[in-house]
Amino acid sequence: MEEGRDMHLWVNQHAAGEVLPRATHGRGCEIFDADGRRYLDGSGGPALFSLGYGHPDVVEAITRQLGQVQFAYSTVFTTEAIDGLALALARAAGPELRHTSFVSGGSEAVETCLKIALQYHLARGEPGRTEFIARRQSWHGYTLGALAVSGHPARRRPYETVLRGTHFVSPANAYRPPPDFAGGDLAAHLAAELEATILRLGPARVAAFIFEPVVGAAGGAVPAPPGYAAAVRAVCDRWGVLLVADEVMCGIGRCGSFRALAHDGVAPDIMAIAKGLGGGYVPLGAALYTQEVYRTIADRFGTVASVHTYSGHTLACAAGLAILGVIERDGLVAACARQGTRLIEGLRRRLGGHAHVGDIRGRGLFVAVELVADRQTATPFAPERRLHDRVRRACLERGLLCYPSPGTADGLRGDHVLLSPPYIVSAAEIDEMVDTLARGIDAALAEPGRA
Ligand SMILES: Cc1ncc(COP(=O)(O)O)c(C=O)c1O
Repeated sequence: MEEGRDMHLWVNQHAAGEVLPRATHGRGCEIFDADGRRYLDGSGGPALFSLGYGHPDVVEAITRQLGQVQFAYSTVFTTEAIDGLALALARAAGPELRHTSFVSGGSEAVETCLKIALQYHLARGEPGRTEFIARRQSWHGYTLGALAVSGHPARRRPYETVLRGTHFVSPANAYRPPPDFAGGDLAAHLAAELEATILRLGPARVAAFIFEPVVGAAGGAVPAPPGYAAAVRAVCDRWGVLLVADEVMCGIGRCGSFRALAHDGVAPDIMAIAKGLGGGYVPLGAALYTQEVYRTIADRFGTVASVHTYSGHTLACAAGLAILGVIERDGLVAACARQGTRLIEGLRRRLGGHAHVGDIRGRGLFVAVELVADRQTATPFAPERRLHDRVRRACLERGLLCYPSPGTADGLRGDHVLLSPPYIVSAAEIDEMVDTLARGIDAALAEPGRA
């Protein structure tokens, strides 16, 4: 075999020795490999490819920008691309979130949000507010700060000893409510837990509460129960704690509103975005924040103390601007809502009665199927069975890319499969995804293995 092909010299999530298909080209929701195989992208990478592959408007915008200047270094210059993108984001995100710090991805966006929260309290003369509260079954990224606030035991494990302490509260998951919930109003119960945590720590020590409005890979497209976002917003307001929304996966229209939290009528103080913003064309992310947060920091310190060499990269901003332009021009936020309904209804029709499907949930084009050993008790499969990985491989063999993950139930046990296709997905492609996923799940379950 060709050197570097039978054993990849580069390292990522694949296991040592695993050989990946070599991709050659992509169009729309399809990507092809060197053996001529076609894959339908049912997960848009990890909810990344908002406009699919090879979108002509984005390719054109990138090419044009490259012909002018690849990066007018943003400490020295502004450009049409960066000004245009900041304005487009401020318009799309609503009146509250006016200011943007650009970065190159989700983890950097989360890091920036955390630093902005700390600097805000410092500027207000409350340097003691340094603690973060986050949720279990959450994922905020692999850099050390983002990892420290991630409720993801498996990914934390190698670094646990050096991660700064974070205070974790229950996930907001109606299918798996916390053990101490005896029924009634789940949103109120969870908000009370957050408030009790703030009071136990002492409000004067708490900087921010960070959460995913719709949980991604760590829980499987879990929208919070109605009223949750408003209730935690009220708790944070009561105690001077900033509300940080991580919309890296669920944002940029995927859930049927440009900001996922807009669905709940709530605005955060600070918000992280990435994935769908660069759409897989460029590495791009951002922290968006309110006038109040920006002014408080700027009035005291002059500017926000967080920047990277590639912050506001011109080519990346040009691509992001083109992507937002297409999303708006082609009505793709509404398309996410419409096609998401087709997707979730198709899955419910096909898999709703399946003996090993515990829950089918999500919002917009952000949908997951949770697999369980026992539907009645919601008992997960044994983690050693690695059902999520079997489903991934079974679907790949059948030409479908999906995004299965473990740890759905408690961080270690549980399996779900996420579908989050590009916003341009057609009705026929959605139907194909539902069919192939159902066949892939059955094939994975039929494989011999420990229960
Ligand atoms: C909700 C959320 N936040 C942050 C991140 C980290 O983003 P990145 O992998 O681009 O650093 C991810 C990545 O999956 C994510 O899903």
